[in-house]
Amino acid sequence: MKTDELQRLLEDMTLEEKAEQLVQLHGGFFGDVGTITGPAAEFSMDADQPYRTGSVLGEAGAEHLRDLQDRMMAKQPHGIPALFMADVIHGYKTAFPVPIAIGSGFDAELAEEIASLAAEEAAAAGVHVTFSPMVDLVRDSRWGRCMESTGEDPYLNSLMAKALVKGFQGDDVSKPGKVAACVKHFAAYGAPVAGRDYNVTEICEHTLFEDYLKPYRAAVEAGVKLVMTAFNTIDRKPCTTNKRLLRDVLRGDMGFDGVVISDYNAIGETLNHGSSYDKADAAKKALEAGCDIDMMSDCYLGSVVRLIREGELDEKLLDEAVWRVLVLKNELGLFENPYKDGSPENEKRVIFSERHRELGRRAGAETAVLLKNNGILPLGDSGKIAVVGELTQDTRIVGSWSIFADTSKTVTLKNALCEVVPNGKFVFVGNDDPTDEEMAEIGVCDAVILAVGENEIPTGESMSVADISLNKAHLRLFERVMSCNKNTVVLVFGGRPLAIPEIAEKAPAIVEAWLPGTLGCLGIADILFGKKNPCGRLSMSIPYCSGQLPISYSQFMTGRPKPKTDGFVRYVSNYMDVPNHPLYPFGYGLSYGEAKYSPVRLSADVLKKGGVITASVDVTNDGGMEMKEAVQLYIRDVKGSVVRPVRELKGLKTVRLMPHETKTVSFEIDEPMLRFYDADMNFVSEPGEFVLWIGHDSGTENGRGFRVEG
Ligand code: BGC
Repeated sequence: MKTDELQRLLEDMTLEEKAEQLVQLHGGFFGDVGTITGPAAEFSMDADQPYRTGSVLGEAGAEHLRDLQDRMMAKQPHGIPALFMADVIHGYKTAFPVPIAIGSGFDAELAEEIASLAAEEAAAAGVHVTFSPMVDLVRDSRWGRCMESTGEDPYLNSLMAKALVKGFQGDDVSKPGKVAACVKHFAAYGAPVAGRDYNVTEICEHTLFEDYLKPYRAAVEAGVKLVMTAFNTIDRKPCTTNKRLLRDVLRGDMGFDGVVISDYNAIGETLNHGSSYDKADAAKKALEAGCDIDMMSDCYLGSVVRLIREGELDEKLLDEAVWRVLVLKNELGLFENPYKDGSPENEKRVIFSERHRELGRRAGAETAVLLKNNGILPLGDSGKIAVVGELTQDTRIVGSWSIFADTSKTVTLKNALCEVVPNGKFVFVGNDDPTDEEMAEIGVCDAVILAVGENEIPTGESMSVADISLNKAHLRLFERVMSCNKNTVVLVFGGRPLAIPEIAEKAPAIVEAWLPGTLGCLGIADILFGKKNPCGRLSMSIPYCSGQLPISYSQFMTGRPKPKTDGFVRYVSNYMDVPNHPLYPFGYGLSYGEAKYSPVRLSADVLKKGGVITASVDVTNDGGMEMKEAVQLYIRDVKGSVVRPVRELKGLKTVRLMPHETKTVSFEIDEPMLRFYDADMNFVSEPGEFVLWIGHDSGTENGRGFRVEG
């Protein structure tokens, strides 16, 4: 539709119609109800009103949505099509590994491919908008939603944000196979105090801008169509009614001109926060703050029209919000084709197609992280191998935001092993408490694959824990298995980094398997048996224990930094009982064979005004298998007007190396990449001394100093 036609449409709409465009309801409101006794009754709606709302949450399926669209358009006075939005977080029917694992791919191309195939399936099922990517920084694995984020680091999450938005939306959302993306949860939802979901966020201005806001900004720069507000407060104000955050920062500073949607009932919840007096007050505050769509509260529905009629709210605010919703519908091409790609034929053609299955398997291999290997891996396929633990036969390892996933297609680890090594001599013990006979059998095997950790149930929304230790039953199982067979490879499943110091100490090999999606176990089996070389890197540090949380490699120097010694030192910043550093740091992950790095070379030691320094290393694959190496650049600004982090990821390049091959990897260092928020919150760089490192992970010591001229 042309812009002037869209404008005329808006002008022709009644106040009621406009307010309804800003309401989003879930599928439960669209039954064929004669008498209203369900959700619609609670929201004081008549039977037809749900059909006149602007968007629907959480419904999918081509036939179903075509039918619902017909019914909604028939009842909307101007025949305006509805938007269908859903949580397609790591895949639709084919679930790919969870986002924390996607982050661990350390590979923006892989992330983009995943989003692109997820979009194809969702679009075929009639979905127009996905509530993804979630790029909240996560540094505290007590929070169950770590699983949904791509990790702890602003640079990595920004890369992932861009790649995922591009994968979902392409360069034109109206094109076949594309859906609009919604970055969430704005802002800093990943930093609830004490890791408890929905808790307040206490965050200083510098940390907010320097770290937490960056990935959302990257998504906005990538052209994301929607932004979802967060449940938490910032500066004691709920994000959904936080005018400074939504109008000044998001729309003003970041230049976002798309649709802002509240999280589920987040406008209503400002009453519980005690920052809105009643629903009308909440509606007024949210609309004034710039929140366009009210997801699943009746605040807008029940108050907006009255507030305008009584002169309490400016109709212009309503018009602005409705305009943005209409523009989104138009950009998706819904006025011409209200079903977009939703058709049973497309569903048949796309869902679970060969390409999707292949990527599901490859993503499983490329996002699992090899944490330790004394040489036992890869396993040979001639020996007898015990496969132990309930998780080896559990189908619930897909990930908790896989509401549409076809779980009948989930490949368990057991089935994956049988498929990847068809002649393997496996002894399957699918429980966590083997009998003495089973233990005796495990004892005589050449090796053991033991699965511990969590399936998808204890992670995700609201699943916070105070203690991230591996559960006692699995620790006991590990000890028992190790006591009868030392050749035990441990796979750790789960959506959050779990503390596994005992396993790290004793097991000869450990793989962080995350929650690998529908077909990811095939990829994990591939790496266990050396059919693929592991290449995943930790997108979140794995701590020794809960007491270290929150933790990130990107710490700050204190006034009493710890000297480089092991053990506790009094009157400096350290713990008496655990080290300061994590068990495994951000960026860490092994392969079969080592990537050897030459010392860093710099094209110059001084960065002149407007100039560039090229920093290079030679990377050699020292092993016998092809390798994918994520080469990481870290920089430290030694002194500044505010305290600067000990190091920050500033560059990432993926190289593929054949056995014994060497490649030169270079990064350009220029002034804009050294900018930060100075003491007065200006985004600038400051001259002085810097150090850069290029290496395998955030602990690399392969560094060189350089100077930046004023
Ligand atoms: C979650 C969002 C999600 C929304 C819609 C909320 O509870 O916080 O991430 O997109 O529900 O399902």
